[in-house]
Amino acid sequence: MIKTWFHLSPTSIPLAQTEVEEVLLQHKIKITNPILHFSNFIIETDQPIPAVTINRLGGTVWTAEQIDTAHTADAIPRLIQTHFKKLADPSIKKFGIFAYANDHYQPDLSQQLTQQLKQTIKLSYINLKRPRLNSRQLKHTLVFIIVHLKNTFYLLKLTWYYPWEAYMRKDKHKPFVQPAEGMVPHKIARIMVNLSLNQPPNLYLTDQYLLDPFAGSGTILIEALDLGLSVIGIEKHPTSFAGLKQNIDHFISHHNLTNKAILYPGDSTKLNKIIEEKTIIAVATEPYLGPSFRTKTNRAGKQYYVTASQPNTPLTHQAIERMIFNLTKLYSKWLKNQLKILKPKSKTRLVVILPTFHFHNRFYSLNLIDKWGVFDYTLYKGPFTIKSQRDLVIRRQIYILIRK
Ligand SMILES: C[S@@+](CC[C@H](N)C(=O)[O-])C[C@H]1O[C@@H](n2cnc3c(N)ncnc32)[C@H](O)[C@@H]1O
Repeated sequence: MIKTWFHLSPTSIPLAQTEVEEVLLQHKIKITNPILHFSNFIIETDQPIPAVTINRLGGTVWTAEQIDTAHTADAIPRLIQTHFKKLADPSIKKFGIFAYANDHYQPDLSQQLTQQLKQTIKLSYINLKRPRLNSRQLKHTLVFIIVHLKNTFYLLKLTWYYPWEAYMRKDKHKPFVQPAEGMVPHKIARIMVNLSLNQPPNLYLTDQYLLDPFAGSGTILIEALDLGLSVIGIEKHPTSFAGLKQNIDHFISHHNLTNKAILYPGDSTKLNKIIEEKTIIAVATEPYLGPSFRTKTNRAGKQYYVTASQPNTPLTHQAIERMIFNLTKLYSKWLKNQLKILKPKSKTRLVVILPTFHFHNRFYSLNLIDKWGVFDYTLYKGPFTIKSQRDLVIRRQIYILIRK
């Protein structure tokens, strides 16, 4: 058995764990003895996990294969030296050490081990605290990961490294961004796309499409294109639509992709008038979630909330109730209309971010949650709450639904 360690993104550990499990399931890799401890997810498989499978996980994880265990920190340098002799081949030019305990990087242990090993390992040293190592660099680098969980030190060899922080920064390469509209982080978008599929992306045909009916700046579509899928995006607002087109064109030409991307300026509550006879195999989307909120401070030093569009009017419970009513109407119309373009019994998945609101100790959720049957969807997994510091009023939750 081969033990693989996944370092899950802390933004939502249950969501990232579900992504790993679903992707492995789709690739027919059976896992046994899963252990989850903070963001450490350790599983056993009877064969190494292929690079194409790991690659799908994008920035969700780093992965490492277990090569040994120790019960004390003192035993680690000797173990590393033994394994170094076994594993090092002439193509390896660099080495690295990264020690990790529970959920934290251990700089002291990492440094201490590095100092000891630099004397015997005559290769240049790579500091993993620096941003990403691509797969080509990883081929020439032997990185030992030490994970201290409970009473065991796991000695692992790094097999995939794309820290989620670096993945988050993918936005910087887009020509068009609209932070006020609440862009979904790339890492979450990648997870949503992975969870929206029923099989590995390479098994879909070029005229089968993933749909994002509220495409915004195109983050979800970009992640789907990156996985080799054809996509359809709908965006209602002209400025956003122009930006969306710019982002998708840029991504396709920058990566020399041949995938199809069809973009429509239009209203998703009238989806069936826009998309005709196209095979939609998955839907992943973050619809409009209501206005963005800000805090202000009054003369007495007390904080209160306003909406960005009405900065002089304090937010009230009534305003939130009205917003919930309007959002429920929008989503209901869209979901009902979308049914018309999804084949019945197709088991097409719909991965959607929906908001809940938390205001003055009260929680508000949409009236359509728990009523999926009305729309001919069943809840498959979720909701998963995504951590976000930006806005205290709104919380984003991911639902994975299946077309009945
Ligand atoms: C939360 S944003 C999507 C953000 C996107 N995931 C991203 O990362 O850029 C929602 C988008 O839906 C668009 N929108 C709102 N109502 C719509 C409708 N009825 N039909 C299509 N698009 C709509 C908004 O203009 C906005 O760009």
